[in-house]
Amino acid sequence: MNKKVYIETLGCQMNKSDTERILGILELEGYEETKDSKAANLLIINTCSIRGASEDKAYSHLGVWGKRKRKNPEMNIKIAMCGCVAQQTKEQIFRRAPYVDLIFGTHNIDELPKLIKKVEEDEKVCSIHKTQYKDENGGFMIKRKEGISAWLPIIEGCDYFCTYCVVPHTRGRQRSRLPQEIINEAREIAKEGFKEIILLGQTVDSYGKDLDDETATLSYLLKEINKIDEVIRIRFLTSHPADMDEELIKTVAGLDKVCEYFHIPMQSGSDAILEKMRRPYTRAEFLDLVNMIKKYMPEVGITSDFIAGFPGETEEDFNDTLSIIDEVVFDYCNGAAYSPRRQTPAAVWKNQLPTEEKKQRLYILNDKIKEAIQITNDRCVGKTMEILVDGVNEKGELNMNGRTRSNKIVHFIGDKSLIGTLINVKITEAAPWCLKGEIV
Ligand code: SAH
Ligand code: SF4
Ligand code: F3S
Repeated sequence: MNKKVYIETLGCQMNKSDTERILGILELEGYEETKDSKAANLLIINTCSIRGASEDKAYSHLGVWGKRKRKNPEMNIKIAMCGCVAQQTKEQIFRRAPYVDLIFGTHNIDELPKLIKKVEEDEKVCSIHKTQYKDENGGFMIKRKEGISAWLPIIEGCDYFCTYCVVPHTRGRQRSRLPQEIINEAREIAKEGFKEIILLGQTVDSYGKDLDDETATLSYLLKEINKIDEVIRIRFLTSHPADMDEELIKTVAGLDKVCEYFHIPMQSGSDAILEKMRRPYTRAEFLDLVNMIKKYMPEVGITSDFIAGFPGETEEDFNDTLSIIDEVVFDYCNGAAYSPRRQTPAAVWKNQLPTEEKKQRLYILNDKIKEAIQITNDRCVGKTMEILVDGVNEKGELNMNGRTRSNKIVHFIGDKSLIGTLINVKITEAAPWCLKGEIV
């Protein structure tokens, strides 16, 4: 039988990176990836649990696939669910979606060869580690998607337990991979032809704090990867404000290949809300951090995440969020309405805001974010900026795409042979979501 797998990935880069691991393992088991879900006999949904809406999306995919399975028995379709919803909901998923064949958690990817064999023999399987699980730091078998940039996970899980967030429940405690293993993998990625390496973690700047080795820091990894000839750019995300220090900022400023770009979610501009969120910094401390970054790197790109309508958030608290966006002028932010999540303390507090109010605040937040993006984009006009050309622009007359070191997208006219190279462009126009430029 022809084994074809289709995988749908929801959620953050961690999940996207896990999908590459899953495909790498399944390839060894004889599965070929297809981009056409209708052609697949193994359908996998890699789920995200961060908000109610992301969880709902997973079940709506499953519903469609369940029908297809029932209508096409000759295809012997198998359906699998993994990722953060799977980790949280476990075998209860079988009750809600009885056509699912396999459920595996975020710590169980390495067991796939064994699990998939059982599924092929028509067994229903659920594998979720119930205990705190420390992984073996074994080498990962990753089938990276083709392109210019490669994700390299360096730390999994999270130890912060913010009062609204499911991640520590779905990903477990913080576990850093060993530095040598990461550096070896970076070398292999470079040999495969990737030009940019993006180091990944939920709190990527906490890297190494759970290891005995004091030299294992994000700064050390950046310095080592910066030495690899074939790599021309390096990024890292997501940073936690409380783990970011001057040493790391100086390292980023001092290394030629490491982009001046920081994604540091702030979540709220109000000290009262930050405390209730269990975020261990104040508005003033966050501002100090931003100012320190800007002192070393005036052309830096800084992006963030904010939540609107956290339980107990007053108008004044919310205005503090709007005003910090004015003050910092972020290059981009993700805005989200607070969504109560299972297993998290804030979900059961009595002072929840009405859905309508949260929606209204999100609307205002998103407008404020748009303003900031426009201001920072306008500032680029007339400047000559280095971009990494990363592909073809399917829409519009400017046929090529690239990214500035500060992570802004630039469209320009150029030749496909430029893909994977660094070029200079002069920015001619700032549209709301991108920049337009000309090669100089
Ligand atoms: N590790 C990162 C964030 C990971 S989750 C950090 O600590 O900053 C990505 C984003 O989802 C968060 O920054 C937050 O803004 C949002 N988020 C998390 N839980 C949420 C919830 N319950 N409701 C709404 N947004 C949420
Ligand atoms: Fe979630 Fe907080 Fe951990 Fe980020 S730091 S993943 S928001 S618990
Ligand atoms: Fe979602 Fe899990 Fe990432 S909850 S945001 S996929 S870590």
